[in-house]
Amino acid sequence: MEKTPQALKGKKIILGITGGIAAYKMHAVVRHLKKLGAEIQIIFSPCAEEFVTKLSFSTMSERPVYSEFYSSEDGSWNNHVELGLWADLLLIAPCTANTLAKMAHGMCDNLLLAVYLSAKCPVMIAPAMDLDMYAHPGTQRNLSNLESFGNQIIPVGDGALASGLSGKGRLAEEEVIMEYVNTSLSSKNEFKGKNVLITAGPTHEPLDPVRFIGNRSSGKMGYALADKAAQMGAMVTLISGPTNLVPQHPNIKLINVETAQEMYDVALKNFSSQDLVIAAAAVADYRPKNIASQKIKKNIENGDSMQIELIKNPDILQEMGKRKTDQILVGFALETTQGLKYAKEKLSKKNADVIVLNTLEDEGAGFGTDTNKIYIITEKDQLALPLMPKVHVAQEILTFCHHNFLK
Ligand code: C5P
Repeated sequence: MEKTPQALKGKKIILGITGGIAAYKMHAVVRHLKKLGAEIQIIFSPCAEEFVTKLSFSTMSERPVYSEFYSSEDGSWNNHVELGLWADLLLIAPCTANTLAKMAHGMCDNLLLAVYLSAKCPVMIAPAMDLDMYAHPGTQRNLSNLESFGNQIIPVGDGALASGLSGKGRLAEEEVIMEYVNTSLSSKNEFKGKNVLITAGPTHEPLDPVRFIGNRSSGKMGYALADKAAQMGAMVTLISGPTNLVPQHPNIKLINVETAQEMYDVALKNFSSQDLVIAAAAVADYRPKNIASQKIKKNIENGDSMQIELIKNPDILQEMGKRKTDQILVGFALETTQGLKYAKEKLSKKNADVIVLNTLEDEGAGFGTDTNKIYIITEKDQLALPLMPKVHVAQEILTFCHHNFLK
């Protein structure tokens, strides 16, 4: 990740501030962003002014702070569509449970929500609330809804809260917010003119019309790679098994598939025109040999057991390895033991250029989590990265590939 002050120069950020105690902490963030050269347009939710003043934020951002559709001073219209198109990034911090819920349900009863719905740029949300509000299933569901829209959630901090309680719900620290903003805005079109194909998510292998064999892959890693590659300028083809995620960037062509065979067919059809292929999907190695045309019934005569015959699925990555001309091939390896040994073997067996290893021996790595801890393995290198959010992992993998193979 580029952390030089140049990264944010001239970038346009809309900062949405909502009515939470933590709103005052955004003074420091605004000052930091301004210092790095960003342009900042601040929009308050209706309650924000109960906590902080427009005067201090307009002085720091050197722009008027908006909160209404119409300016009460000169009657002009604060055009939410134009604002939504103007920004390179919409950051909502702190985001209260109320605004979070409204965003998750597409509500639009204030200017900030209208800008959110109109925004074409990446959206980052830093929630802040008391621990019980944060833990409530309603809030958690809203957060996963927002994630499924492609919005990025900056994780809450854990510690002292305004209520006097202690736990999860604090606004992320200034450095964390700055790191997220930097990562999102520091792309330099490294992949301009490149085609990138990514497989993501699980596959579902049907047994009968209502059942399938699947796995716990959420698709988060593959979607993060697709969004990041597109932000870095690539034209991305994302071949995805069933997930509840939506890619965010307009330069991502999403092709939905269900089974390994479908994923294989689509991936190989699109293979020859690619510069980089990242196989992040958790493809089922086997599928039921026969798919029953009707729901399989409990068969009392067979007693307490039942046999399902499985046959091998094609290995997409391995086949691409056989056919590759000058494509760069990246595979994933999820291992529970002896990760480095198996990953090295996979590299040569599949004729891949890079294997990204995550091992369930490392806490916070693997399926379903928002974080990952990876090792990037090539013929020559073996790079261990620390535990970090999947969006940052995506950036590291893509930067590595660009630097080592595509420059
Ligand atoms: O051999 P294994 O399944 O452990 O290899 C994992 C890597 O191979 C991942 O990159 C995965 O996406 C890819 N793969 C594939 N087709 C399969 C099985 C795995 O592309 N049938």
